[in-house]
Amino acid sequence: MAPKESLTVIDNRTGTSYELPITDGTIRAMDLRRIQAGDADFGLMSYDPGFANTASTRSSITYVDGEKGILRYRGYPIEQLAMNASFLEVAYLVIFGKLPTAPQLSKWEQEIRYHSMLHTNIQNLVETFRYDAHPMSLFISSIASLATLYPDSRDVTDPANRRLQVARIIAKVPTIAACAYRHNQGWPFNGPDDSLSYVGNFLNMMFRMTEVKYEPDPVLEHALNVLWVLHADHEQNAGTTAMRVIGSAQGDPYSALAGAAAALYGPLHGAANEAVLSQLELIGEPDNVPAFIERVKKGECRLMGFGHRIYRNYDPRCRIIKKTAEEVFRITGSNVLIEVALEVERMALEDDYFIARKLYPNVDFYSGLIYRAMNLPSNLFTMMFAVPRTCGWLAHWLEAFDDPEQKLMRPRQIYDGPEERDYVSIGAR
Ligand code: CMC
Repeated sequence: MAPKESLTVIDNRTGTSYELPITDGTIRAMDLRRIQAGDADFGLMSYDPGFANTASTRSSITYVDGEKGILRYRGYPIEQLAMNASFLEVAYLVIFGKLPTAPQLSKWEQEIRYHSMLHTNIQNLVETFRYDAHPMSLFISSIASLATLYPDSRDVTDPANRRLQVARIIAKVPTIAACAYRHNQGWPFNGPDDSLSYVGNFLNMMFRMTEVKYEPDPVLEHALNVLWVLHADHEQNAGTTAMRVIGSAQGDPYSALAGAAAALYGPLHGAANEAVLSQLELIGEPDNVPAFIERVKKGECRLMGFGHRIYRNYDPRCRIIKKTAEEVFRITGSNVLIEVALEVERMALEDDYFIARKLYPNVDFYSGLIYRAMNLPSNLFTMMFAVPRTCGWLAHWLEAFDDPEQKLMRPRQIYDGPEERDYVSIGAR
């Protein structure tokens, strides 16, 4: 007889036994509500700070097996996509679920080119920020402001309208990012160049100076394409969850995306690449690595770019990035920070502290070094993560609309505060 796909639990408070169905390796949290200690009891809830063991949705976008170090978008291994596909091809795949045919890709590229310009209002907004404002603050504010220019985006119940906003956003995020960078530099903004690839055009908007036509370096263009493919999505991380939570209230996608980007901006999430560079600079040279590793082991600080909530193995993206980094360093030349990084990785992978906790380098460990080799300041790194991740955020935002089980996200809490008490007037406190 096949084993039953269910869980039997006995509530020792009452002696009652309950059978909860198991589907896809999960029990439904709402089934716990049936477990009540008495008539007035609300019913059992699960408690899961950080959502470490809670599935909040079904998703067919990205598959991650953290134990084995596997990452796939829509079933395709990340290694194959990173080596063979353009970023816009991958964005199409992630968002719409299928690799585009040649005519579909060409139409999609055309659509993105069409929407890539920014309204001057947004350029003016960027100019109101201080010259040294963090680019992520500029990015988040600009994305949120786009909702004022496209009030039609509030009609999220119309699939055609959602599709239009998705193309607009994918098209405009590199332009916004380049504006933020050039504002920091004090350089005039560059408009898009339609003859270039999505990534090549981004380099053009970032770096074109007085030349009439900007020609991106093919090695750097390829490296950036690889990095952006690797960052396109990573299932239910903090940023994507923020997107889904805000999206569940059916707000416009610009506001939701600003929220997702704000989550990414935290140093435990997308700002880790910036923190990695600061840490490597602090270490200074390979001889200082052992002392630094000791400090990490004593709990004085974390080794940035190491560890991951999901991966208990080498992050597959890190392997690809390390290889890409070698290609970039061949043309930009090596530097002492690269040597420090290699030594940190070597020592950590041999050390019992890191082995016992299954701490391996993550996606952020080498990406910052590539960006530094491209002469980008470290405060720009998180934005370099946010631009490609926009594609994943939008894919999840769209997916939720087609899922009949999704509803306004509203977690529960365990109330830990005082019992009811009477207000005391200010003079009597
Ligand atoms: N350096 C030193 N010790 C670490 C590190 C680290 N980077 N990460 C985890 N640990 C230790 C931690 O101190 C704990 O040890 P103990 O059991 O003795 O208390 C143990 O490993 C488990 O840590 P945790 O905090 O429970 O693990 P987590 O799954 O909640 O943390 C993480 C995941 C990414 C927040 C964490 O590994 C970390 O802070 N890493 C550094 C920041 C970083 O590189 N973030 C980028 C993540 S990848 C990109 C992204 O998702 O945006």
